[in-house]
Amino acid sequence: MQEINIAMIGGGFMGKAHSLAYAAMPMFFWPSPARPIKKIIVDVTDDLARTAAERYSWDGYSSSWRDVVNDPGIDVIDIATPNNLHAEIAIAAAEAGKHIICEKPLAPTASEARRMYEAAQKAGVVTAVAFNYRRTPAVALAKKYIDEGAIGTILNFRGTYLQDWSADPNSPLSWRFQKDIAGSGAVGDIGSHVVDLARYLVGEISEVTSLVSNFIPDRPLQSGGFDALGGSSTSDGPRGAVDVDDEAMSLIKFRNGAVGSLEATRNAWGRNNYITFEIHGTEGSIFFNYENRDELQVAFKNDRADRRGFRTVYTGPNTPYGESLWPIPALGIGYSETKIIEAHDFLKAVAEGGTVEPNFADGYQAALVDDAILESGRTGEWVRVPDVTDPNATDD
Ligand SMILES: NC(=O)c1ccc[n+]([C@@H]2O[C@H](COP(=O)([O-])OP(=O)(O)OC[C@H]3O[C@@H](n4cnc5c(N)ncnc54)[C@H](O)[C@@H]3O)[C@@H](O)[C@H]2O)c1
Repeated sequence: MQEINIAMIGGGFMGKAHSLAYAAMPMFFWPSPARPIKKIIVDVTDDLARTAAERYSWDGYSSSWRDVVNDPGIDVIDIATPNNLHAEIAIAAAEAGKHIICEKPLAPTASEARRMYEAAQKAGVVTAVAFNYRRTPAVALAKKYIDEGAIGTILNFRGTYLQDWSADPNSPLSWRFQKDIAGSGAVGDIGSHVVDLARYLVGEISEVTSLVSNFIPDRPLQSGGFDALGGSSTSDGPRGAVDVDDEAMSLIKFRNGAVGSLEATRNAWGRNNYITFEIHGTEGSIFFNYENRDELQVAFKNDRADRRGFRTVYTGPNTPYGESLWPIPALGIGYSETKIIEAHDFLKAVAEGGTVEPNFADGYQAALVDDAILESGRTGEWVRVPDVTDPNATDD
């Protein structure tokens, strides 16, 4: 079996998720398109990198992503660092001829995403952007129903990503609240996932109008060198400014005539990872809530009048990716499975010399939507979303 040598840059939250995915991928997908070899993991210090290598079973470690990107023994660079490093690493990796999977958002701004997209295009390498939620089997099932025409022509998409891990103003100042590292707040971090789902399920977004807010202007500074997500901290220590949004609400128009809304907030007490979409078509409707991710709610126009209403379809062996997962419906799909499927689809494209979606073009298009949302938040106007093929899509 072909072996693919991987180097991962960043051994934090996503470093853990991707390490697990590479280890588990051949156990789920068999025969496997390739055997991922976890060669080198990189973090900012040797100590952090060594610990990550030991914990997540990587053969080696390094504190220099540049050395690793130029290592001729590496086939794939996996970027799991904070957002401000994505472009620099990805462009260097493309120039070194490496295939690349990069965490979302592809970059802090659309213009950086564009440079990444163009570098990868020029190098002819396989790219993927880690919008893993579209790999949830129930989401792929929704896509299958839509493609088969089961809900007819789509009229309306209503998508949300609501969280509360940072709703407490005294939860620590993660890099996710700092514009120079993250680029944007709720828009890029969680809204971008909903943008990806909207594009995947309905089509390209043509125009947006948005309210973009920041309700928590500062947070306690962190100490200890690790980036804490949420949790409690003292309210009397030094605080740093939050210079990104924590809430965005948009009305959206799709190029195909459908309309919709998109909501992303970090201030939704009680909503932990509430990614939902409801899609209304001329023949029926679909509802999904990631907090119940084995389930798809469906209702069809032709349902008998005395049986109208949503019913639950559970994903399992007969629904997308099911053959490779668990043999009984509703046994339980987790976040890890979405990452295992993502690793499989990407490595299959690398092994076979193909392509995969979402790739850097998708990541760039999603970044153009994110930028339009932010611009509309500033101006209060409807903002047109350019296409990745538009040479004037970004200012530079
Ligand atoms: N797809 C998803 O569901 C999802 C979820 C969370 C985060 N993310 C994305 O994943 C990326 C990483 O987020 P995270 O939650 O893992 O962050 P994290 O802070 O937990 O981990 C980032 C890691 O990168 C390391 N790092 C920083 N600078 C580095 C450098 N110069 N060289 C090597 N390593 C460096 C940090 O020390 C840390 O270990 C972000 O782009 C984020 O938006 C995606």
